[in-house]
Amino acid sequence: MTDTDDLKAHLLAAIEASASLDALDAVRVDALGKQGRVTQLLKTMGALSPEERKVRGPAIHGLREAVTTAIAARKAELEQAALDAQLSSEALDMTLPVDLTPPGTVHPVSQVMDELAEIFADLGFAVATGPEIEDDWHNFGALNIPETHPARAMQDTFYIEPLARSAGDGQSPSSDGPGLAGDAGRPGAQSAPMVLRTHTSPVQIRTMVEVAKRHAGAGAPIRIIAPGRVYRSDWDATHTPMFHQVEGLVIDKGITLAHLKWTLETFLRAYFERDDVVLRLRPSYFPFTEPSAEVDVGFSIEKGKRVIGGAEGWMEVLGSGMVHPRVIAACGLDPDEWQGFAFGCGIDRLAMLKYGIDDLRPVFEADVRWLKHYGFAALDVPTLSGGVGTAA
Ligand code: PHE
Repeated sequence: MTDTDDLKAHLLAAIEASASLDALDAVRVDALGKQGRVTQLLKTMGALSPEERKVRGPAIHGLREAVTTAIAARKAELEQAALDAQLSSEALDMTLPVDLTPPGTVHPVSQVMDELAEIFADLGFAVATGPEIEDDWHNFGALNIPETHPARAMQDTFYIEPLARSAGDGQSPSSDGPGLAGDAGRPGAQSAPMVLRTHTSPVQIRTMVEVAKRHAGAGAPIRIIAPGRVYRSDWDATHTPMFHQVEGLVIDKGITLAHLKWTLETFLRAYFERDDVVLRLRPSYFPFTEPSAEVDVGFSIEKGKRVIGGAEGWMEVLGSGMVHPRVIAACGLDPDEWQGFAFGCGIDRLAMLKYGIDDLRPVFEADVRWLKHYGFAALDVPTLSGGVGTAA
């Protein structure tokens, strides 16, 4: 046995005996490191005669080759063993509850919209929606708001360039085009600028036009609420340029002011969860309703704070009235046959009154501390499981 054979046997045994990656690395340094034994042997080659080199060369190189291969193989073995050990010692319990921190909250305005949908669903109302960028006809014209009405003034309304609607521009919507349903040919429709809707009332127009079309002017009963964002050029403690409204619309045969009053009373009692909610209808004016009434709710003072219920004072909460015959006719229904009522109400104000929010501005500032304080848990789904009849 030559010295290289001895060294090879010794090193291969040491490699095989290495029980850890660290131990294996120590053997590698001992053999192949700068001062390693195999490295030293390689260094002696330069001093050998050509004859000696012929004999010793292959032996030494073979030694290095064998040691390198053995180390790589043992390393792979040890790594696999380490992985196996980790896999068998670590367990994942898929049934553990998920950690939901930090939990988000449902914004009070969203919560109130859900509450409104819930209450009105009990009363047989569907939820309707419409575009926030409206044309003049749906936002003003069809609602009997004349060209000169102050609601159209620059300081109230955000105007937007009209869509290119000339024939042959390749994107000209048909008269049923998106957001412009039934608009073509109406006075001012081609030239009037688009607006960010100033109220949710255009959704009642869209709904009536749709129903009149579907039933070829014969009409059909309508019961909808339309919650959503609206825009006005306003900014102070009680006005923000974007806010939320809910519109209500009922169209049927023989609808009277009494139906309006009962519906609003039932709604507000369910919403404020008190059966002593008292309403006061004050004669008022809206171009799209006749007669029109502003609706106040009574409040009382408890511990120095205003609380809805009782009648120590009055707070205005919504606008309402019987849908103007001109509005019904503009939508293609016969006003002698179909009547109805409508109401519109600020959702943000409803949320502030119910949940004790004093300032409107932080409602839209997305401050996480405010949201934590006033927000609702994600699964706190409003439900009036007993129905509006028992909610109060
Ligand atoms: N659209 C009215 C507003 O924004 C509210 C309203 C709706 C009044 C329906 C009466 C009937 O002020």
